Amino acid sequence: MPEHKPSESEPFEHKPQRGWVAVEEFLTQTVVHPDAGLQRAVQSATDAGMPPIEVTPNAGKLLKLLVQLSGARRVLEIGTLAGFSAIWMAQGLPDGGRLLTCEFLTKHAEIARANVAAAGLEDKVEVRVGPALDTLAALYSEGHESFDFVFIDADKENNSNYLDWAIRLGRPGTTVVLDNAVWEGAVVDPSIDRINAPGIIGALELLGSHPQLDATVIQTVGSKGWDGFALARVR
Ligand code: DHB
Ligand code: MG
Repeated sequence: MPEHKPSESEPFEHKPQRGWVAVEEFLTQTVVHPDAGLQRAVQSATDAGMPPIEVTPNAGKLLKLLVQLSGARRVLEIGTLAGFSAIWMAQGLPDGGRLLTCEFLTKHAEIARANVAAAGLEDKVEVRVGPALDTLAALYSEGHESFDFVFIDADKENNSNYLDWAIRLGRPGTTVVLDNAVWEGAVVDPSIDRINAPGIIGALELLGSHPQLDATVIQTVGSKGWDGFALARVR
C-alpha cells in the first residue's frame, strides 16, 4: 500500500499511540504531580476552546527543573497559550525571579493572566501581547536585562528568528529550549506538513551551525504524538 501523504490543504495532525498516552498518564500521576494551579490552566484552555497543544506535564516539569538547575532568574517565553508552561517555569524561579511571556492573541493572554494569578504567581509573571517579534525588538531596545533561560514554543515559521533573538537577548551560558523539534518526523519528510516543516528544519540547521549555539535534540512520544525538543546553550 502506498504511504499516505496528506495534501497541503489537509490540516496537519499529531498521531499519539494508545500505549504512549497510557504511559504518559502513569508517569504524570506517579512522578510528575502537576498541582491544582497547573490543572486549572489546562482545564481553562479546554473550556475556552483553545487548541490542546500545551506541553505535556512531564515536559512542563522538565522545564521547571531546567530553570532550577540552570539557576535562571530571568526567563523569556515565546508563545504563552493558556500559561501552562509559564506556570511550570515560574514555579522553578527563586524569590525575585521573573518570567516574561509573549502571546499573539489578547484572548489567550487574558486567560493566561487569570491562570497565573490563580497559581499565585502574578508577582513573577508578565504576559506581553502582540507579535513576538515586535515584543522581542522592544525588549532589546529597552535594554532589558539579559535572559538566563528562553523557551520557544510559538509559530514555527519564525523559529529561526526566535533563536536569533534568544542569542541577542541572552548571554553566554543562557539555556534555550525549542519545542516541536521533530514534528511527527516532518523534519525528514517535509511533505507531511509543508506549512510548519520548513521553519522547524531551518531552526535545526541553525542550532547545528550557529557559532554561538551548542545544541542537541531529544525525541519524545506521548499524548502529543511523535515530537521532540531542542536544548541549547548560548556560547
Ligand atoms: C502545535 C503547536 C505546538 O507548539 C505543539 O507543541 C503542538 C502542536 C500546533 O500548532 O498544532
Ligand atoms: Mg509546542
